[in-house]
Amino acid sequence: MSALVVTGTDTGIGKTVFSAGLVQALGARYWKPVQAGLEEATDSEVVARLSGQEVLAEGYRLQLPASPHLAAEAEGVEIDPAQLSLPACDGPLVVEGAGGVMVPLNRRMLYLDLFARWGAPVILCARTQLGTINHTLLSLQALRAAGCRVLGVVFIGAPEREVEDSICLFGKVVHLGRLPMIPGLGKAAARPGRAAGSDALARAFATHIKLDLIREVP
Ligand SMILES: Nc1ncnc2c1ncn2[C@@H]1O[C@H](COP(=O)(O)OP(=O)(O)O)[C@@H](O)[C@H]1O
Ligand SMILES: [Mg+2]
Repeated sequence: MSALVVTGTDTGIGKTVFSAGLVQALGARYWKPVQAGLEEATDSEVVARLSGQEVLAEGYRLQLPASPHLAAEAEGVEIDPAQLSLPACDGPLVVEGAGGVMVPLNRRMLYLDLFARWGAPVILCARTQLGTINHTLLSLQALRAAGCRVLGVVFIGAPEREVEDSICLFGKVVHLGRLPMIPGLGKAAARPGRAAGSDALARAFATHIKLDLIREVP
């Protein structure tokens, strides 16, 4: 296993928290190709705090909390996919996209085009809340149509077995586990220093995420 892409059905669904748990479990490096929004803790900072692992520098750091293409344009910049090759890395690398799979990087390219270009396996994060079947099935269809290799879906939230099973049935996709909500994790991750939630996240990962399926990836 070298690089793993973590994407999701939407923004704010727990991709960064899941990425932090994965980085911690695999002893991996983390890379955020485009960080749009610098006012609050960045995804790289949150992952570093929650995982205790070093993170790589972002490809682009943009001030505006907006879609990458708009955040770049606001600074008179165009995101160049040639600048976003997967960084060389000794061990496993966890790469987190932004928002969902069809978020534009510039006026010609969406995130899923970049994932397909990399050829790296993709983990799709999905909420368990109402509405997720539609969002997840559409995201799977879009990823596959773009030529991405989908490793499976990780659910985030309270258990919804029937919903999770329906997604796996219609989406013909592997269930890689469900990360429950961990109380107080957000506040802990927002403070500088190694977060108090790290151990709880590691325990939740060990219990709920099928790491063997993720580690097996060639
Ligand atoms: N498993 C979880 N347990 C507790 N809080 C979580 C969990 N997943 C996400 N959150 C919280 O939800 C918010 C959004 O999560 P985040 O990982 O940043 O989402 P995304 O990367 O998809 O935008 C954050 O405040 C985060 O702390
Ligand atoms: Mg994130």
